Amino acid sequence: MSEEPQAEEFDTVASWTADAVEELGQDHALPAACRGSGSPAALRWLADRMGLAPGMRLLDSGAGVGGPARLVQETHGVQPTLVDPMEGACRAAERLFGFRALVGDGAALPVGSGEHDAGWSLGVLCTVEDKAAQVAELRRVVAGGGAVGLLVFVRTVEELTDPPEGNHFVTADALDGLLRGAGLDVVDRAWLGDFDDPPQDWQDAADAVDDVVRREHGDSDSFQEAQRNQDRMIRLLRDGSVAGRLVVCRVPGDDVGRDT
Ligand SMILES: C[S@@+](CC[C@H](N)C(=O)[O-])C[C@H]1O[C@@H](n2cnc3c(N)ncnc32)[C@H](O)[C@@H]1O
Repeated sequence: MSEEPQAEEFDTVASWTADAVEELGQDHALPAACRGSGSPAALRWLADRMGLAPGMRLLDSGAGVGGPARLVQETHGVQPTLVDPMEGACRAAERLFGFRALVGDGAALPVGSGEHDAGWSLGVLCTVEDKAAQVAELRRVVAGGGAVGLLVFVRTVEELTDPPEGNHFVTADALDGLLRGAGLDVVDRAWLGDFDDPPQDWQDAADAVDDVVRREHGDSDSFQEAQRNQDRMIRLLRDGSVAGRLVVCRVPGDDVGRDT
């Protein structure tokens, strides 16, 4: 499970984000709620390569405040199931988008085996130590032939200088090995940095939400702790020692679509 600094970032800040969107307006919800997963262009690539299509049941493990789930619901017509261990994030997903998110650990997903046509986990694996357990659970809940998508922040250097607390970065090769070890077929990969940045109005909306959160909570220890962690991550991304890796996998078999 997450360690303390991330509890601030993923739980407390999630509630503040929902408050800020309520003040600024619903058009700020998606940009503010997709902060963990980069650009809409990258999410669209992932959803396309996973073959997501209307009516498909998508399990979102570590869904945060629900931005990516809402985006792909709009663009690809999927029916998402959201799971996140942070109650504040789950409540924020409900406030922002009306999702009924399940509080749960990605290493013990509170859903049955093979009940979903696809599953993804975005920006989560680098925050947990036992990555194999998370991947095994995604494989368990997705039916044979279904897609598993991942966005994982990986390290490109041997040793990281001043990494964010509570993160555990592996290399892109180690990630591939982990996925194959879980019995998944890796079918496509991309780097987050190769996709277009979000459009300016999207970025402006996200910044406006940040400004409201800072105005209301900037003096608090929770805000400053979350901010320190976020600043460390941004520095590693800027100097290239950490990069976002998108991976598309298939669960062996051909059960998807048989009973839908
Ligand atoms: C960087 S955020 C990404 C949120 C969302 N997937 C997105 O892309 O916007 C990481 C998320 O992982 C969740 N998380 C942390 N530990 C987890 C665990 N053991 N199982 C599942 N999710 C976890 C956090 O609560 C947080 O919501």
